[in-house]
Amino acid sequence: MGHGIAQLFAQAGFQVTLNDVSLKILDRAVSRIQDSLPRLVNHGIISPEDADEVPGRITTTTDLDEAVLNTDYIIEAVVEDLEAKSNLLGMVDEKCPAHAIITSTTSTYCVRDMAGALKRPERFLVTHFWNPPYLIPIVEVMPGDATSPEVVETTYKLLEAVGKNPAMVNKDVPGFVGNRLQHALRREAISIVAQGIASPEDVDLIAKLSFGLRLPVVGPLETVDLGGLDLTQAIQTYLLPDLDCSSEPLQLIQDKVAKGELGAKSGKGFYDWPPGRFEEVIRRRDETLIELVILLKKFGLIE
Ligand SMILES: NC(=O)c1ccc[n+]([C@@H]2O[C@H](COP(=O)([O-])OP(=O)(O)OC[C@H]3O[C@@H](n4cnc5c(N)ncnc54)[C@H](O)[C@@H]3O)[C@@H](O)[C@H]2O)c1
Repeated sequence: MGHGIAQLFAQAGFQVTLNDVSLKILDRAVSRIQDSLPRLVNHGIISPEDADEVPGRITTTTDLDEAVLNTDYIIEAVVEDLEAKSNLLGMVDEKCPAHAIITSTTSTYCVRDMAGALKRPERFLVTHFWNPPYLIPIVEVMPGDATSPEVVETTYKLLEAVGKNPAMVNKDVPGFVGNRLQHALRREAISIVAQGIASPEDVDLIAKLSFGLRLPVVGPLETVDLGGLDLTQAIQTYLLPDLDCSSEPLQLIQDKVAKGELGAKSGKGFYDWPPGRFEEVIRRRDETLIELVILLKKFGLIE
């Protein structure tokens, strides 16, 4: 996420400093940015001249002091581990200028769970980007109780300046909006497979080629309105008692994790992942996303 967010801001003309724990990781981050630029140029997302400017706007350093000393806006994107995030956020808060805004692109944690590490919680909030950040338009903005309104306003303006659509999350809740929705769907998908109702391949096919195909155009609540709230009520009266409502990861996931079946990174998850398949899926995802973003702009669905 870090290199994708750095790329997004550099594409919009900002000077960015990318910080990580080793030079090797930072070099890989820069080469990933360099690899993705020609694809964006080929599809007309950015001009060749603008793409040429991007690498020159990104500085890398393993030195946290150097990274945050003269910065106005900091986006934390380290591993999804509350302790790691809190430790780093506390250090960043100590070292950065008093006016700087500090955000986290955590996928799930509440602001209140991280803000305790900062002396200035009023300058802190969550900005949840989606992967890849330079393509997915939305960023969920979730302030905490202590976040100052000025910090929220500046964040909105900045996100709009880099071409994103910020969306407000009014309450400080785990998973914000996107991941609450996504994990409700994922829990049911896993449950369907666990019960033998359908194979992983067919679950994914049905999701992708039914409501998944409509989602960029008609959201879940618009769909309720289109079909009628009485229809949703009738369906939910019959269906909801049969849906999974587990409050912990399903046994199937726990078993697979215990067996080391972690997905693409271990070679097996719900699917087999022979060498090269991961790269191929990501390439296809990004190529399709680029065309989809162009199409959504053409039809006025995003700016
Ligand atoms: N991958 C996604 O699809 C996605 C989407 C939205 C949000 N997020 C969130 O973004 C964050 C990063 O996710 P990711 O997938 O890029 O993870 P990642 O593991 O690929 O990258 C995390 C990076 O943080 C670095 N790091 C760890 N400790 C550090 C420290 N103390 N100082 C500096 N760098 C440090 C690691 O070396 C690594 O390069 C997580 O909070 C994740 O939940 C991920």
